[in-house]
Amino acid sequence: MGKVITFGVQKGGSGKTTSAGVCAWLLSQEHKVLAVDLDSQGNLTELLTQQDIYDFTGRTILEALKEQLAEKYIHRITDNLHIITAEDLLATFSRWVYREYEKQHPTRNPSLILKETLDSIKNDYDFIIIDTPPALGDQTINALAASDAVIALFESSKFCYSALERFIETIVHIQDKLNPDLKIAGILRVMIDNRRVDNKALIDLVEQEYEGLAFETIIHRKAATGRLSINGFLENTELKQAVEPYHDFLKELIDRV
Ligand SMILES: Nc1ncnc2c1ncn2[C@@H]1O[C@H](COP(=O)(O)OP(=O)(O)O)[C@@H](O)[C@H]1O
Ligand SMILES: [Mg+2]
Repeated sequence: MGKVITFGVQKGGSGKTTSAGVCAWLLSQEHKVLAVDLDSQGNLTELLTQQDIYDFTGRTILEALKEQLAEKYIHRITDNLHIITAEDLLATFSRWVYREYEKQHPTRNPSLILKETLDSIKNDYDFIIIDTPPALGDQTINALAASDAVIALFESSKFCYSALERFIETIVHIQDKLNPDLKIAGILRVMIDNRRVDNKALIDLVEQEYEGLAFETIIHRKAATGRLSINGFLENTELKQAVEPYHDFLKELIDRV
């Protein structure tokens, strides 16, 4: 049975998409991986396919959710790495839920739409990696309800520090109400700049406040990693340097999930 892992935090620019993309790519070297883009910005779609997100209009996660049919909407990147894409229209998901889905299915829980959509293909993959938008809305709630584990991203800013507390509270709420099997894999500290004293203070604070939750591996700010959005994975001459920081993290992650 595939492990479903969500990368989240409601603060934008916190390394969710980059981390989800690198982990999906690295895991696909040895495992069957499905990436699921749940952010209407389509950044994971662009990062992994290196295609225009509008190439996928009409065959994205939005259609998969509406039809509760995942298989039809899987796009193959390599033999081992597949994706269900997203583009802007995913922003209409909540409107569809409250205007149509709830009227048609008054007894069903709209937070479980993604879980029910993925159930039929869960066995086909070793890992399903979900990237989420920078908000605690319906997509993120659906992602958490569908997941076995969640990684909370922390980039060293006061805004992200403030967001983290509510993100962990949201996870606990989902564990109570919807998904008792959801595990907090941990907090991944990313884009850290060693030269900044305030960065160091904040990463230490996270370690103290969330004892045992922070992964030991810290992902530092690195130009090659940042340039993945430009160069992608398939024909990237600096790929090794770009993904190298995530090897130790993945070892820790696999131990924890
Ligand atoms: N380790 C890193 N070093 C340098 N830049 C990074 C690193 N990780 C991510 N970035 C860049 O930071 C920006 C925000 O990252 P992203 O993964 O898109 O965050 P989110 O998905 O949380 O909004 C992107 O431009 C990305 O390329
Ligand atoms: Mg993103």
